[in-house]
Amino acid sequence: MVVPEDHSIRGPGKRVGKVFYNRQMRFNRDISVCLFSAIDLKGRSALDAMAGTGARGVRIANEAEGDFNIWINDAVPEAHGIIQRNIELNDLENAFAINEDLRCLLTKRVFDYVDIDPFGSPVPYLHSAIIGCRRNGILAATATDTAPLAGTYPKKCIRRYGARPLRGRFGHEIGLRILIGHIVREVAKYDRGVEPILCFYADHYFRVHLRMREGGGRADEGLEQLGFIEYDAETGRRSISEMPGPTSYGPLWTGPLFDHAILTSMESGKDLAEPRRMEKILETWKSELDIPFFYDSDEISAILGISPPPLDAILEKLGERSNVSRTHFSPTGFKTDLDFDELLDSFLELV
Ligand SMILES: C[S@@+](CC[C@H](N)C(=O)[O-])C[C@H]1O[C@@H](n2cnc3c(N)ncnc32)[C@H](O)[C@@H]1O
Repeated sequence: MVVPEDHSIRGPGKRVGKVFYNRQMRFNRDISVCLFSAIDLKGRSALDAMAGTGARGVRIANEAEGDFNIWINDAVPEAHGIIQRNIELNDLENAFAINEDLRCLLTKRVFDYVDIDPFGSPVPYLHSAIIGCRRNGILAATATDTAPLAGTYPKKCIRRYGARPLRGRFGHEIGLRILIGHIVREVAKYDRGVEPILCFYADHYFRVHLRMREGGGRADEGLEQLGFIEYDAETGRRSISEMPGPTSYGPLWTGPLFDHAILTSMESGKDLAEPRRMEKILETWKSELDIPFFYDSDEISAILGISPPPLDAILEKLGERSNVSRTHFSPTGFKTDLDFDELLDSFLELV
């Protein structure tokens, strides 16, 4: 791969020179490769719409299994030159470079998979990505504006996503769900609904992969899965509510983050950049419960005035009376369908 010599190594990355490349996002690209091998895109077309050097699109074309074509686009001419060289270097017959503003491109062509990976928020590109996504296609988007979505800049989140974020223990899950909720509302305007395939938070970014479902009924079903999370930071109590109140956050997506059938067919591979990390995260995603918030062992322990028990002991104890899982959002987090008082009782039994 050709990449600019002076590129971003860590963090959300920034443009260096005219072409963007961020080495830390290689794990994000590993995930795209694994996901492409697990979804059936036979004979289909994909668009890496904001490709920079083309690192993601080229890796997908080179490494993912399946018979599909991918168009790799960037509006910047210098990036387009690098994308072409990377396609040639890898002898790819299923990848093609384009040099257009995606907002023009997607008024003329539709694709079965559209990926938008902007600097910051995907909001300015959503309309184009939605209309450029063929019936029942997949929309993928990255959001690196974690500060508004996870509550550091609440006013900005309200302006941009029309939702109140939470700055706190599970603010990143709220942020991801606000992002999905916003997309659900945008997609509904086109009489479409969404089915999440794989939506997650990692490092400094949120990433969503959503399958479009056609029809007003599907749009309504999506809107019905929006709600609010009630949270009292003093007591730690949290719950889902349909209507907003003074201590609620959202509106946000309360439905699943993963399609478990697709997750089951995703596998790590030795040729990935970070195979061990991929193995571990797949294991966590596969077991993660479809509950729209998690608890943190340090938080619950602080509320009870006890020292935090090991997470494995917590999982075992709660597992005696409920469904329980780890969560990818936090190494000290867990999800359970116990009600809050039962959760506190179980914790006290661990002391
Ligand atoms: C964060 S970078 C993409 C990084 C890349 N996907 C990767 O994995 O390395 C965002 C890219 O979007 C491109 N871009 C910004 N606005 C665009 C537009 N309207 N149409 C197409 N590309 C655009 C920028 O030139 C930049 O290369």
